[in-house]
Amino acid sequence: MFLRRIVRQARPFSSSRAVDAAMPSTSPATRPLIVAGVPLSADSNVPAAVADKVGRNLHLSRHHPLNIIKTIIEDHFREVERDAARVGQRAEFRFFDDMCPVVTTKACFDDLLTPKDHVSRSVSDTYYVCPGERQLVLRTHTSAHQNELMQAGHRSFLASGDVSRRDEIDSSHYPCFHQMEGVHVFDPEELPGGGGENASFDPTSPEAVLHCEEHLKRTLEGLVRKLFGEDCEMRWGVDDFPFTDPSFELEVFFRGDWLEVLGCGVVHREILQNCGLAHTNGWAFGLGLERLAMVLFQIPDIRLFWSEDPRFLEQFTDGEVKRFRPFSKYPPCYKDVSFWLPAEGGGGDGGPGFHENDLFEQIRAVGGDMVEAVEKIDEFIHPKTQRKSQAYRITWRHMSRTLTDAEVDKMQFEVRDRIGEELGCEVR
Ligand code: PHE
Repeated sequence: MFLRRIVRQARPFSSSRAVDAAMPSTSPATRPLIVAGVPLSADSNVPAAVADKVGRNLHLSRHHPLNIIKTIIEDHFREVERDAARVGQRAEFRFFDDMCPVVTTKACFDDLLTPKDHVSRSVSDTYYVCPGERQLVLRTHTSAHQNELMQAGHRSFLASGDVSRRDEIDSSHYPCFHQMEGVHVFDPEELPGGGGENASFDPTSPEAVLHCEEHLKRTLEGLVRKLFGEDCEMRWGVDDFPFTDPSFELEVFFRGDWLEVLGCGVVHREILQNCGLAHTNGWAFGLGLERLAMVLFQIPDIRLFWSEDPRFLEQFTDGEVKRFRPFSKYPPCYKDVSFWLPAEGGGGDGGPGFHENDLFEQIRAVGGDMVEAVEKIDEFIHPKTQRKSQAYRITWRHMSRTLTDAEVDKMQFEVRDRIGEELGCEVR
């Protein structure tokens, strides 16, 4: 079941309107929304607030923290390329950073071997631009470009761009954020036992896989040292992605905490085969630019990246990673709302019924970036009726001014109305 679309006003995705970024659109229906040049179908679950962000390409905006981090990473791979050339190897990384954020479910899931019943495909987790026959989604990760780029003949590349996911609301989650993907496929001669006339060469031999793994780890450890300092402490963990095997995660100890910085692994055999690369082997990684920028610049709230406030933007300069100076912390306003879930209940598996992500989206549709966090504070089942009740606390806070009581009350009332009308719940 797709949610009814909330705001139906057309807004060009890449316009440079000088409007208050925190204000959501509440104008009535006119034309359909367009995302990256693709019109949303009537049963799309992409809300205006997200359509408005996709394609803004903060990672391409000069002096923006996301662009600064992206550039440092690209510079690292230029060095990897030079080091490889010095020992007679090839690693010419191509950089892609303006690929279309609207992709097919084939590119986003099937080609990456994501199981058919995986929750990431569900309408409660993913934004469908055209759910029907065309199966177009907002990419949920930059891995959506792996197959296409390898099939086009690219062997070593970075691909960055915005990705969108229906998710919880707090200071580190935003429905649209930015990722960077890296892929490196070796020439067979670079792998142990490869090259020459060796007919028995096996790119999947333990030695060849180990070679990929070690090269991957060395390259990414170098990247983390570049970002977090030469002496930073790191640790590798095992992870699980359908498109890499084996899969790993890398954590770094920074300012007293272990922070997961990336996921990676040896590219799955089936993907290499599908890309005409069965004769060799390679690795891939993916990382979130906001996550890195938040810790490195000490930016406390993910909404700030979208700010058009000069007090934010003017703090940053190309090539410099320095501490963000908070220019304001306006007071928060907490409001609770509780309601009975619709009788069909659940929906937690992405099926029909109530799903938390639907609630978060309704709240964002009302308050846009004035919603700082939404947290579940209570849940119980009525012993007689077996109906389920939930209560959530909404933190309302504007990034650049104080919200008035009247403003917050108005938004809170609208949220209550929508919980009833759009989600079929009974507000208590
Ligand atoms: N796409 C994965 C994510 O979004 C990251 C990843 C990329 C993992 C490439 C392995 C290889 O979390």
